[in-house]
Amino acid sequence: MNIRRSVLIGLLCLAASPLAFAADAGPVVIKFSHVVARDTPKGKAADMFAKLVNERAGGKLRVEVYPNSQLYKDGEEMNAIQMGSVQMLAPSLAKFGPLGVKEFELFDLPFIFDDYSALHRVTNGPLGATLFKKLEPKGIVGLAYWDNGFKDFSANKALRTPADFKGLKMRIQSSKVLDAQMRALGVIPQVMAFSEVYQALQTGVVDGTENPPSNFYTQKMHEVQKFVLQSHHGYLGYAVIINKQFWDGLTPDQRKLLTTAMDEATRYANAIAQKENADAMEAVKASGKTQIIVPTPAQRNELKKALVKVHKEMESRIGADLIKSVYKETGFDPNKL
Ligand code: LMR
Repeated sequence: MNIRRSVLIGLLCLAASPLAFAADAGPVVIKFSHVVARDTPKGKAADMFAKLVNERAGGKLRVEVYPNSQLYKDGEEMNAIQMGSVQMLAPSLAKFGPLGVKEFELFDLPFIFDDYSALHRVTNGPLGATLFKKLEPKGIVGLAYWDNGFKDFSANKALRTPADFKGLKMRIQSSKVLDAQMRALGVIPQVMAFSEVYQALQTGVVDGTENPPSNFYTQKMHEVQKFVLQSHHGYLGYAVIINKQFWDGLTPDQRKLLTTAMDEATRYANAIAQKENADAMEAVKASGKTQIIVPTPAQRNELKKALVKVHKEMESRIGADLIKSVYKETGFDPNKL
């Protein structure tokens, strides 16, 4: 943990101590921690949520956003929200497995969503609500789903077909589905916190990774990756979550204020995500540092064939019925490739 983060955490612990409360019955503070840059779909939506709440709460509630793993990084933040050290997070849907809610990994299944509208039929429908219910026994309430976008693979060698991936080491998020996805390509997957990816790519600890362009560009991965394959092979988005005990302890008016602000921030997040990613990809191109490879339809289909078999493989982890329900919502047919 670096010194800046230790000092910040120390100050927050002090502020949360009963002594501090006795001395100052100021606003109820909601610490909202996340791991990406401010200048991303999630970063902007978190800031918008904080602005709306802080403007409307008349000094009674205050949302403080801590971006860029400043407070907690992957592997620490779920514990922090359960302990009440922070009140809110927006982890990617790929990061709920270690919490014991494996079903969220359905969002990582390669090629399961053709586009944002197929995805929204799941997040905005009964399946999205059912998944949120599974968080409550873990002491967490799900408030909203926020989009990022569709992931591309990157590496220091040109990637086009499954054969090009064989033997590479790639960083993944902590999802068993992503582990299986990489192994299906002959890749050696390595789970790593988001904040460590740039350095791992730079030093060659891993050869490549996957992310939507907004994360790729804002973490400067284009400086250390020579090629991006515009594969759009999987989705990356977020569940905005809050500590249940904290949520239950708020007044109905406070919860209403937060819910209204969250609805607005969610509409904003989901409206900007696509353009943020398109702009980031343009910026990567303009940097001249990374070559963008657009797969031919035949190449993309080859990749799809290699990866869709992961759905069957992951039935025992995610639940065959749940996967079938997603297919029903989205119209995806694994046998039609
Ligand atoms: C990652 O760890 O690759 C991303 O999920 C980070 C994020 O929150 O977008």
